[in-house]
Amino acid sequence: MNDTLQSAGASQLRSDGVADASAAAEAGLGALVEAVARRRNFAIISHPDAGKTTLTEKLLLYGGAIQQAGAVKAKGDQRRVTSDWMELEKQRGISITSTVLQFDYAGCTLNLLDTPGHQDFSEDTYRTLAAADNAVMLEDAAKGLEPQTRKLFEVCRMRRIPIFTFINKMDRPGRDPLELLDEIEQELGLACWPVNWPIGSGDRFRGVIDRRSHQVILFDRAERGRQAAEKVLSVEEARRSGAVEDDLLDQALEELELLEGAGAELDLELVHSGDLSPVFFGSAMTNFGVRPFLDAFLDLAQQPTARPAAEGLVEPLRPEFSGFVFKLQANMDPRHRDRVAFVRVCSGRFEKDMNVRHARSGRTIRLSRPQKLFGQDREVVEDAYPGDVIGLNNPGMFAIGDTLYVGPKVEFEGIPCFSPEIFAWLRNPNPSAFKSFRKGVNELREEGAVQVLYDTDPSKRDPILAAVGQLQLEVVQYRLENEYGVKTRLEPMEFSVARWVIGGWPALEKVGRVFNCRTVRDCWDRPVLLFRNDWNLNQLQEDHPDLELRAVAPVVSGVEPIAL
Ligand code: G4P
Repeated sequence: MNDTLQSAGASQLRSDGVADASAAAEAGLGALVEAVARRRNFAIISHPDAGKTTLTEKLLLYGGAIQQAGAVKAKGDQRRVTSDWMELEKQRGISITSTVLQFDYAGCTLNLLDTPGHQDFSEDTYRTLAAADNAVMLEDAAKGLEPQTRKLFEVCRMRRIPIFTFINKMDRPGRDPLELLDEIEQELGLACWPVNWPIGSGDRFRGVIDRRSHQVILFDRAERGRQAAEKVLSVEEARRSGAVEDDLLDQALEELELLEGAGAELDLELVHSGDLSPVFFGSAMTNFGVRPFLDAFLDLAQQPTARPAAEGLVEPLRPEFSGFVFKLQANMDPRHRDRVAFVRVCSGRFEKDMNVRHARSGRTIRLSRPQKLFGQDREVVEDAYPGDVIGLNNPGMFAIGDTLYVGPKVEFEGIPCFSPEIFAWLRNPNPSAFKSFRKGVNELREEGAVQVLYDTDPSKRDPILAAVGQLQLEVVQYRLENEYGVKTRLEPMEFSVARWVIGGWPALEKVGRVFNCRTVRDCWDRPVLLFRNDWNLNQLQEDHPDLELRAVAPVVSGVEPIAL
């Protein structure tokens, strides 16, 4: 449809010249309207082992994007290693890299922003959520809310993105479904609206009742693999067929009545403001409940949304292209030693070979080799629309949060950093390797793999690494050795809290000496205070109530950071 509209526009231009230029523009806008309407972009948030990989695989099967289950995460030796540091993932059996998966289903184009599942490696996940319009919160029915899910939920809440809940592993003994919902409502303050309701659980799980159609979708324990046919019956048919025991059906109907009695309605506005979560029960492994979930998701999820920028909200239908960098990754392909900047398209149509303006530097750049990434595979893209993600080869000019645009100036609000909780000196024991050490540290900082702080004494040149999780530090060390050939040593520091001083050095000088903390500087030469614990932080705040502190680094634009 896009192509038809666009070529219609082009032929009108050829025949009538100027008069049809506006018709062509209209046709282009028509293509944009249509492309935005069919796009849904989302990320899955969950605690490790809840079944994110399994669900992703099943979703992709429906999209016809992969031919067999197991293609997303082949375990052990089956996994194809396409970048040096995937070796680390392989060794540790974890998933560190975020990937973007695009697939078509039922006339829609879905962009799934995959996020690292390991609980220690969350900074990257946070940034990926900045590019997502919807989130799917995946829970293990036996475990309910788990720590990583709570943390990620808070990030979604900050951005008020719609949250869809999928309660997984219903084929196994789990907690009472009403209790699971109550936990979400009480602990996250998120109202729930079950779209379907389970009949039995564990060994006696028989399926779900769709709340809107009142139909029973039967669970077939043998059902596995690709797009298995679902048996859909009316409640009465289910009872008569004997496929569902009376006691289980009665209990499910009773609970449904209870939910109806509670009175809430499926209010789309509340879903889109992130205040009401549609809830689904299923079992990813047995492919039960995945298709109904996907269908309802297409119906209820938010289309690509407007994004806040310094100039006001930027609508996806703004005719000119704009987007922002939310992730950088180096050496995805060790043969090319390349760096890729992932850009979320926010408005307009992106085209290959386009000249765009880089907001931070003011420079114009031609994007000649944009890539679409499917997991670790890539192909050159011809065009992309709001909600899509493109990969750009990054010759070192892109930083996280950078805006690219065509037309009137746009500069999107930056992506917030997350307050680091782990700090360590990074030592380079081999002075002759200093050049590589410096290059590695600078590039990994630019990529956002880790935050880098420095001592206030310029003679102490070693950088301080600041991270959200321990694994982040290990990844940095590993990559320095494997990609830059430098062996390093980490010396942990006994701090767990960082605060940026509002007003910079003058504000800090004004209060005089500060105690129970160490002053360091960040790569924009701003003072950062490191504390051992919250207690020390509170003490400082009591001593100097006028000193304004922030847990995260304010976003900087228009200046180059200090390199090592
Ligand atoms: P993650 O990406 O969130 O970490 O989870 P992943 O999909 O790897 O799933 C974690 C484990 O849970 C896997 O078992 C997976 O098969 C299982 N699982 C996922 N969904 C369901 C479900 O609906 N029902 C049941 N019963 N299990 C489920 P594993 O033994 O660790 O790996 P594997 O050998 O099965 O691959």
